[in-house]
Amino acid sequence: MLRLLPLLLLFSSTLRTCSGGGGVTPVQLFIQCFSKAAHAPNLLALPNTASFNSVLFSSFQNQRFLLSPDAVKPSLIVSASNESHVQAAVSCARVADLGIRTRSGGHDYEGMSNTAARSVTGGNAPFITLDISALRSISFDAALATAWVQAGATVGEIYYAIGKKSDTLAFPAGICPTTGLGGHFSGGGIGPLTRKFGLSADNILDARIVDAQGRLLDRKAMGEDLFWAIRGAGSAGFGVAVAFKIRLVSIPPVVTTFNVVKTLRQNATGLVARWEEIAHEFDTNLFVRVIAQASKESDGTGTIQITFNSFYLGRLEELLAVALRSFPELGLTAADCTERSWLESTLFFNGDAGKPTETFLDRKQATNSSFKGKSDFVKVPIGGGGLEKIWWFMMEAAIEEPMVLILEPFGGKMSEIGEDAIAFPHRKGNLYNIQYFMRWFETEEAAIQKHLEWMRKLYAFMAPYVSGEPRAAYYNYKDIDLGRNVEGKGTTYSSAKVWGEKYFKAATAATQARDRPHGSRRRSSLPHPCDRERSRPALRPTTAMTRGRALAGDLTAGQAPATTSVCGRLPSRLAAAYP
Ligand SMILES: *[C@@H]1O[C@H](CO)[C@@H](O)[C@H](O)[C@H]1NC(C)=O
Ligand SMILES: *[C@@H]1O[C@H](CO)[C@@H](O)[C@H](O)[C@H]1NC(C)=O
Ligand SMILES: *[C@@H]1O[C@H](CO)[C@@H](O)[C@H](O)[C@H]1NC(C)=O
Repeated sequence: MLRLLPLLLLFSSTLRTCSGGGGVTPVQLFIQCFSKAAHAPNLLALPNTASFNSVLFSSFQNQRFLLSPDAVKPSLIVSASNESHVQAAVSCARVADLGIRTRSGGHDYEGMSNTAARSVTGGNAPFITLDISALRSISFDAALATAWVQAGATVGEIYYAIGKKSDTLAFPAGICPTTGLGGHFSGGGIGPLTRKFGLSADNILDARIVDAQGRLLDRKAMGEDLFWAIRGAGSAGFGVAVAFKIRLVSIPPVVTTFNVVKTLRQNATGLVARWEEIAHEFDTNLFVRVIAQASKESDGTGTIQITFNSFYLGRLEELLAVALRSFPELGLTAADCTERSWLESTLFFNGDAGKPTETFLDRKQATNSSFKGKSDFVKVPIGGGGLEKIWWFMMEAAIEEPMVLILEPFGGKMSEIGEDAIAFPHRKGNLYNIQYFMRWFETEEAAIQKHLEWMRKLYAFMAPYVSGEPRAAYYNYKDIDLGRNVEGKGTTYSSAKVWGEKYFKAATAATQARDRPHGSRRRSSLPHPCDRERSRPALRPTTAMTRGRALAGDLTAGQAPATTSVCGRLPSRLAAAYP
């Protein structure tokens, strides 16, 4: 509390300077304010200085937004190295009337942690990027039951820290190791342990968030509504999540990984059709995901290559018995399998099997490629006939557009947790999630547009096979095609609902809440990003923090959401098949 006092005093004095002294730009105002509040002017990078580009590119995972003439870059980057810097940045952004985008890993699928889309009027409100990647401490409690992790740590760093601490502890999260935890956890966090333990967000016990007033709040101080929201609905619309307290989970010291690869000639379609029916019901120790991509048979004929990319939480011998019982059609043999530690298995899923686990400490990733993702949920098996049509679509497209489909099974713990437990609503009844993914290296605008167009065609093609009314999407695979706020145009609740329902099922939930008194309090008072009419102003980030962007579902602010295998090696294998 004491810490806040100087900041508050500062507001009034700076505000006076503002109204009294003409000609001071918002950025200058911010710098003055921040330098006094944080006593750390060296944390700021300004455009047209030597350090700006290197700081900006230090975690910028999608070249598409570096190249786009429509992408607006930050007016300033603040690299916070203490949670108090985040408080100062938020408070000073209010004073200076600047928007904030928070970046922990830079993986936001629509580049929102680094850039803004140019507004239709061209007059974009300036914003700062608040880089919290230096806030990455991980501290375990003595009993190793929980840990506090700062939001700027990456998935790889936390896997490494846990794996080095104990070979029987783990945490459920995604596959791509360079993803920042801030966005990943607050958007959900699907991964290989999800069937057994739920999402990352299901295993968060407490959090620290800096709200729009610059206050640092823990769970008790923020209240259960906001704590509910930042587990599934992203945190960027509500404040800046700076740390999470997580519950570690117990796993056996040895797990067994395997890949089984099949092409169409090897009955890949029949196997995927079978997988669709049973994968969500497997023993929760068994996780089998499906990666589908166009390829060639040995004689050059076009085909689809299916990789059953999997692990079992236990030893080989046990796995073989379980696989024989639950999925005999796969024909799994010992030769397909490798026993490893859980930490090593996380490298395996990223396509880095056998590499040193220290690989996870390397946060750097090439920014010379672009990607686009979309997602769906499947509630009714597509079946062999539908799958064949999808394969044909992919094979025809493949000459121009290598696309990857990643199918990740739900069931298990995901069916036990209620839709309302946290803000991630895709639970019981979902057989699996699909991620559509494309990566490319071209830099010309026309090429980029062509790739995006292919993705839209694929998404339209898939409509009959996936969940509908509303067609559901996973927030961490954020997709701006579903809708966005229009800056300066006062996005309405009804326009934001179109995409808000896809991510959060808000309307369904609100209806349910009316019927169930227990749920109604939580739902109706929640500052949900797509729930402008029902949100409670006191909890909603206000003024400079978001400048209204969060009000109706902010797709223009982002805190680095996450992925499964965008860092993996699979897309490039395909590129090789289609030179
Ligand atoms: C962070 O800032 C607080 C408040 O200014 C200070 O007490 C603390 O020592 C700082 N922590 C580190 C790691 O520098
Ligand atoms: C293909 O796999 C399915 C599912 O396992 C099976 O029912 C079918 O008989 C198989 N077809 C052939 C030709 O092997
Ligand atoms: C992109 O960067 C990576 C790593 O620096 C490099 O290995 C790769 O060849 C580059 N690809 C292209 C197409 O430039």
